[in-house]
Amino acid sequence: MSGARLEGIGITRRYGGLTAVDDVSVVAEPGTVTALIGPNGAGKTTLFQCLTGAERPDAGRVLLDGRDITKLSSDARARLGIGRTFQRLAVFPTMTVGDNLSVGAENRSSGPSLVRNGKLVLGVFGFPFENTARDRRTVEETLQLLRLDEVRDTPAGALPTGTLRLVELGRALCNGPSVLLLDEPASGLDTTETDNLQHVIRRVAAEGVAVLLVEHDVDLVFDVADTVYAMAEGRLIASGRPDDVRAHPAVQAAYLDVSASDA
Ligand SMILES: Nc1ncnc2c1ncn2[C@@H]1O[C@H](COP(=O)(O)OP(=O)(O)OP(=O)(O)O)[C@@H](O)[C@H]1O
Ligand SMILES: [Mg+2]
Repeated sequence: MSGARLEGIGITRRYGGLTAVDDVSVVAEPGTVTALIGPNGAGKTTLFQCLTGAERPDAGRVLLDGRDITKLSSDARARLGIGRTFQRLAVFPTMTVGDNLSVGAENRSSGPSLVRNGKLVLGVFGFPFENTARDRRTVEETLQLLRLDEVRDTPAGALPTGTLRLVELGRALCNGPSVLLLDEPASGLDTTETDNLQHVIRRVAAEGVAVLLVEHDVDLVFDVADTVYAMAEGRLIASGRPDDVRAHPAVQAAYLDVSASDA
């Protein structure tokens, strides 16, 4: 895996009268972990979607290694090496864990998309996947890395949420991403799984990938991130090194407000 620099410049996204993301700029550098934090409704997922191409910003630009990809579809961005997971899980429930990962390895291969999609349909209907030796090795290494080897033959639909998050991450990794975007990857994970996830995220970044992580569990991201961006109500309120962002008065206030209104 090698890395690329992903940059959002002045991203704005409105839904009717609501400005979900308001002129926000972020950079995810290769070989580092960048985290995006903020209370519920801060605009994290919307910004994330603008970076992956699932949403079009009303203003602003998205650059990959300096190339303007703002107008590219999410599929085109995926082909350029932008991998992602979803806040709502998107695994194939009838396929085994191993086959779910094979889909990722298969997507990376250069075959025409019709062939790839045909194989995907066969996989969904229970026919085993045929992968090249290189794909099989990638799947094998990823199963080991995520400690999923024991459940490789289990249909994904039979597994708990915590494990499925890792399966989804595994599928994205098998695609050989240069940028990896994760939306709340720790949600539903127990302590051991979260520790494992942190280890995996660091490993992936150490291989040069630019990792961008959306997470509203502040304690978790401060352990793993090199750079943190904090959002509230659509705006960027602080950014920088984890300790500085954590101590920032606007970040403290945003989180205190949330706990006050939760109480
Ligand atoms: N498709 C949509 N249509 C209308 N409003 C939307 C849409 N998507 C998000 N919003 C609104 O935009 C704001 C930001 O939402 P977003 O999902 O980006 O926040 P978030 O920071 O990811 O929150 P959470 O931590 O709960 O996942 C919220 O007020 C939300 O209701
Ligand atoms: Mg969200």
